[in-house]
Amino acid sequence: MSEFRVTPIAKLHAEFSVPGDKSMSHRAAILAGLSNGACTLRNFLPSEDCINTLNAMMALGAPCEILDELAGFGPLNLRLYGQSMRLRAPNGPIDCGNSGTGMRLLAGLLAGQSFTSELCGDASLSSRPMGRITIPLRQMGANIEPCGEKPGCAPLVIQPAKLNSIRYEMPVASAQVKSAVLLAGLFADGTTTVVQPAETRDHTERLLASFGVSTRQDGNAISIDGGQILQACDFTVPGDISSAAFWLVAAAALPGARLLIKDVGLNPTRTAILKVLSRMGVRMLESVHHSQGEPVGNIEIHGASLTGTTLLESEIPNLIDEIPVIAVAAALASGRTIIRNARELRVKETDRITSVVHNLRAMGAVVDEFDDGMEIQGGHPLHGADLDSFGDHRIAMAFAIAGLFATGQTVIHQTDCVNTSYPGFAHHLAAILNQRSRIEDFTLPILSRS
Ligand code: S3P
Repeated sequence: MSEFRVTPIAKLHAEFSVPGDKSMSHRAAILAGLSNGACTLRNFLPSEDCINTLNAMMALGAPCEILDELAGFGPLNLRLYGQSMRLRAPNGPIDCGNSGTGMRLLAGLLAGQSFTSELCGDASLSSRPMGRITIPLRQMGANIEPCGEKPGCAPLVIQPAKLNSIRYEMPVASAQVKSAVLLAGLFADGTTTVVQPAETRDHTERLLASFGVSTRQDGNAISIDGGQILQACDFTVPGDISSAAFWLVAAAALPGARLLIKDVGLNPTRTAILKVLSRMGVRMLESVHHSQGEPVGNIEIHGASLTGTTLLESEIPNLIDEIPVIAVAAALASGRTIIRNARELRVKETDRITSVVHNLRAMGAVVDEFDDGMEIQGGHPLHGADLDSFGDHRIAMAFAIAGLFATGQTVIHQTDCVNTSYPGFAHHLAAILNQRSRIEDFTLPILSRS
């Protein structure tokens, strides 16, 4: 079991890029596998979560050719041969590992197939709520059964079914639920509509458009017509802003620091973290260009003395994955930061409200816990501590960043989990601790397989 040992830094001047976006990599693998030909995916995220989704598409009949690998992690550039919407029965259960996104999107994909399938995952995933997808999918006619020890949880057994279209009002603002229903809608008769209570990340809609499938948006309602065939295309995955967020906070909280993150996804449904950091007093420059339907660009950030802020309710779905590291920024800021309306954090890879509050308090921060969030009284100096990741990648990484600002040494235990979303995080952390600055210091070797 690996661990991070972190000590304070005095300087951060660096320029690098982070690995590919997790949300987009899952979707690119699924859509490419469904499409009508060969799709080259570049800068795919070779993380355990996304590799599981890639393996799932291979198990469902889409052959994959690996062109290049990120050494020690997995496929970076690859060619997936789409099956023109005709998937085949897998030989056994499909393992989604730790990934809620993988399981929920694949459930949507499999709901309308003519074969039986089973989706399973690790202990964390087997305790996360699946009712949010089984309810709408059953309304569409799916025969999907959560068979876990915990009611409503994975494994999910999906029997053959013919789907009808529905209009579904989602009770929670979840891009995973929206995407599961839209993917099922591709295999349903008629037009399926999902209404979101608040805007959620729109990568499914954008990527479907790149594959020649149109969705229509009317306010917060998104509709898709069944029976469309995805047209094969190539896609380069931009860097993951949720991974960049760790370093953005590290630079933001260090007066005099300068950080340039290159080629990162700047989709407006993902960039609320930048607005929050600006409100906290950070100076930032963004340059955006578009690539295959997704905004991509560089972010240059200059460190400052941070001040607390209140997260807006409308921002929460847009920065849900960044809240652990925003809480760390809040502890380093002067004044009060309020995070409410974020109950969803309790059903992520861990209960992220409990785990963040626990670890912040262990470092000397002053935090009140609420059912739906927390309030952090910033400005109390952090001290090094012995912390657990609780097996949650974002908790491990957020507290590695906290350790950069705490007196003494911070040890984070159980850090293998970072590979679910950020292969190479340990390498980047070591480069930051050693005050490296050049892109080459952050680059991992790539092995050609073609
Ligand atoms: C994701 C959506 C978010 C996010 C998750 C990835 C996606 O979950 O927390 O890490 O790729 O659709 P919800 O949409 O369920 O909130």
